[in-house]
Amino acid sequence: MRRKIIAGNWKMHMLRQPGTALASEISRVASANPEVDVVLCPPYTLLGAVGDAIGDSLASLGAQDAFWRDAGAYTGQVSPVMLIDAGVTYVIVGHSECRGRFGVPEPDFDETVLRHFGDTDRTVNLKLLACLSAGLRVICCVGETLGEREAGQTDATVQAQIEAAIVGAEDLSAVVVAYEPVWAIGTGRTCDTQEADRVCGVIRSHIRRLRGADAADRLRIQYGGSVKRSNARELLSMPNIDGALVGGASLVAQEFAGIIEACR
Ligand code: 13P
Repeated sequence: MRRKIIAGNWKMHMLRQPGTALASEISRVASANPEVDVVLCPPYTLLGAVGDAIGDSLASLGAQDAFWRDAGAYTGQVSPVMLIDAGVTYVIVGHSECRGRFGVPEPDFDETVLRHFGDTDRTVNLKLLACLSAGLRVICCVGETLGEREAGQTDATVQAQIEAAIVGAEDLSAVVVAYEPVWAIGTGRTCDTQEADRVCGVIRSHIRRLRGADAADRLRIQYGGSVKRSNARELLSMPNIDGALVGGASLVAQEFAGIIEACR
């Protein structure tokens, strides 16, 4: 039986006071629900404050990205060892917003944005490997754009992304995959539950082909994209969905608490 994992990706939201208040409240909910892994991923500026608010509760601290080198002349980047030093346990890599794959239908991404958010399958792989070797747990995001879905490329896209991301990672026990269809992120448009479960199953089958039954059966796969308290229970009851990666609803204590409690 895989443990459920609910992660809140705060993205570029929250200042210190409301952020620590939210983290304190969610930490209490995490400790009251010990059967669920709860992860809070604030912006870098709040890692210290949110870590303090989490204290010795059962919630874990996560970061939203990491660079693949330990140190160097990489202005604006944060390394896996720095994250460990800051008390971080989990890190998100390959989020579609970092791959430059925003949810606009056509063109699939705006090249001005891509200059700033330029992850590729290769950099996602480098980040995943660097984070694992530093001792971090990785939430690796995959997902198709609307254009890819309409072209019948959903399965091929997620298979190629996950396959590229784990090249060279022998042990997947510290990896969680998040299936986040780009068109369902921040749009209020949730992927149909059956379809979300089907694609999570496609990812699991691909891992089974690549790494064997044991790795596939143990791999935790989250769904992400407009998850809220009202749709969480149905999504989390599906056989291939082991948790949620939550954006907007993770910024509201009652909503996020409701998603954690929906795992029961
Ligand atoms: P929303 O829950 O706001 O759709 O965001 C999902 C997401 O991108 C989480 O990483």
